[in-house]
Amino acid sequence: MTTYERRDTILHVENISVSYGNKTIIRNVNFEEKDTAVPGKVQGQVIAFLGRSGRGKSTLFRVLTGLEKPATGKVLIPDYSRQPANGQQPAKVVEEGDVGFVDQKYTLFRHKTLYQSLLFALRKSMSSTAEKHGRIMQYLSDWGLEKIKDQYPNEMSGGQRQRTAILEQLLSSGNYMVLDEPFSGLDVGNIENVKAAFELINRSHELNTIIFSTHDIELAVQLADSIYILGHKNCAGSDDAGTIVHHYDLKALGLAWHPNFTPQHLELVQNIRSSLLAS
Ligand SMILES: Nc1ncnc2c1ncn2[C@@H]1O[C@H](COP(=O)(O)OP(=O)(O)OP(=O)(O)O)[C@@H](O)[C@H]1O
Ligand SMILES: [Mg+2]
Repeated sequence: MTTYERRDTILHVENISVSYGNKTIIRNVNFEEKDTAVPGKVQGQVIAFLGRSGRGKSTLFRVLTGLEKPATGKVLIPDYSRQPANGQQPAKVVEEGDVGFVDQKYTLFRHKTLYQSLLFALRKSMSSTAEKHGRIMQYLSDWGLEKIKDQYPNEMSGGQRQRTAILEQLLSSGNYMVLDEPFSGLDVGNIENVKAAFELINRSHELNTIIFSTHDIELAVQLADSIYILGHKNCAGSDDAGTIVHHYDLKALGLAWHPNFTPQHLELVQNIRSSLLAS
């Protein structure tokens, strides 16, 4: 089991609820994530959300990224523009733009080619044009997108659009990235590319935090160090708003950052499957 230390809070989610009209979609969502530090290693955080269709994952993600104002509650992230007080980093309410977001529909700029989109994503970067070009070309080659760099979104396949959307956020966002079903519709090779990108993001900064949703339980167990199940508490009854029904802390279970998929991982997959079916 890897030794690790829990440090500052990097995400504090308190009593979130969202309603559309008179229908409550999610209710009383609470969780907190800390920066987990592994001695001698840069270790970001990977948090997965699982839940049956319609339980509110995408809705919660829009709240986490500040795109949607919740009816109740708040989402706090550390405010690094202020000095720590009493050893604590002050917190701020998340705002649109603080967190990179790749939505389920992977919205792209219709009138920009892949290359132009990535260049636009780097607009705030201080690097020279030559450096930006080099960085973009490296990513395009790593992600198998070189050949389509001058194509527009309507000339790309679903998987190519998805990887473009992820790359855009990778180049433009800060430490946080929320990805809604980043693996859906990808072929086996593309899944490996996105997994490799997660690994890269994780290794490049201690505070880097990826939050993603998926319907692939095994993938979540392989990649995440913290898994939340969003479901209905009373599946058969009237309480049909989504809320967190389970949290699996893979660090505490000794299953995080594992090179192999062990029988214990498989057992967790089965537990999660039951939890999903019951909620
Ligand atoms: N803008 C909206 N207006 C009204 N209802 C909405 C709106 N957006 C989502 N909903 C409803 O909220 C519920 C949760 O939707 P959401 O997209 O968050 O689910 P999800 O867990 O992401 O599902 P999936 O796994 O299929 O992506 C659904 O019943 C959906 O119909
Ligand atoms: Mg969704």
